[in-house]
Amino acid sequence: MPMLDQEKIETITQRLRKANSVTVLTGAGISAESGVPTFRASDGLWEGHPIQEVATPRGWYRNPENVWRFYHARRANVATVKPNPGHVALKQLEDRFGDGFTLITQNVDGLHQQAGCRNVLELHGALREVRCTKCQRVEDRGLEPLDLMPICTTCRANVRPNIVWFEEALPELIWSKSVDATVASDVFFVIGTSAVVYPAAGLIPMAKRYNPETLTVEINLTRTDASEMVDLGIYGKAGEILPIILRGI
Ligand code: OAD
Repeated sequence: MPMLDQEKIETITQRLRKANSVTVLTGAGISAESGVPTFRASDGLWEGHPIQEVATPRGWYRNPENVWRFYHARRANVATVKPNPGHVALKQLEDRFGDGFTLITQNVDGLHQQAGCRNVLELHGALREVRCTKCQRVEDRGLEPLDLMPICTTCRANVRPNIVWFEEALPELIWSKSVDATVASDVFFVIGTSAVVYPAAGLIPMAKRYNPETLTVEINLTRTDASEMVDLGIYGKAGEILPIILRGI
């Protein structure tokens, strides 16, 4: 690891030792080392699936079977993968900070919870959940294969994936909890996200705006739209960098 990164890690670990509140925003990059494809990589999930067909309300109204086929495939992929050392390090960070730790994720794969994290705010929904198109009941169906067009166990209407699609609002309570945790944080990490999807990416400048003392840190393979907004960035694999930080506190 270059000297400069060691200095950055020292800065981060010193601040963590004094911190009461730590908030983390993750994106697809945290799960890449587990084998879940990211969205905007060349081998990304959307390849062969135009976004408007599989991740918008219009796509659903036009062809719900097509949408379900896409999500059945994503559920099947996630059923085969395991948390990686990045997820495990974040679980250890939660153990260390207890109620002062909040993990906000844009991911729908459930790998943070599988690693043992308890305080997880899923901004974009969850692959394991379905939502009734009639009574709106949300049900956890795990990752077992479902019927092509699964139905609600209460009212028998069709259910849809409980995923926030483009053009849809984020779940209100989860968003307001995310904002609260962001503005309260002493250290704010943004990990493995290209930071181009809003409102999620709006949390990054928010951390600093409400508390100029907050240390904001990006961990990513490459620089992103977040890089100019944070105090410091460490560029490499989250599954390698996070365990090093954890060992330092
Ligand atoms: P993206 O695919 O846009 O970005 C993934 C980021 O992870 C990139 O910046 C990569 O450089 C980085 N990355 C890849 N491997 C990494 C590794 N091993 N360690 C660290 N970083 C790594 O995914 P998101 O930013 O999560 O929304 O995308 C945001 C939202 O766009 C998703 O939640 C999804 C999509 O539309 C919905 O489904 C609603």
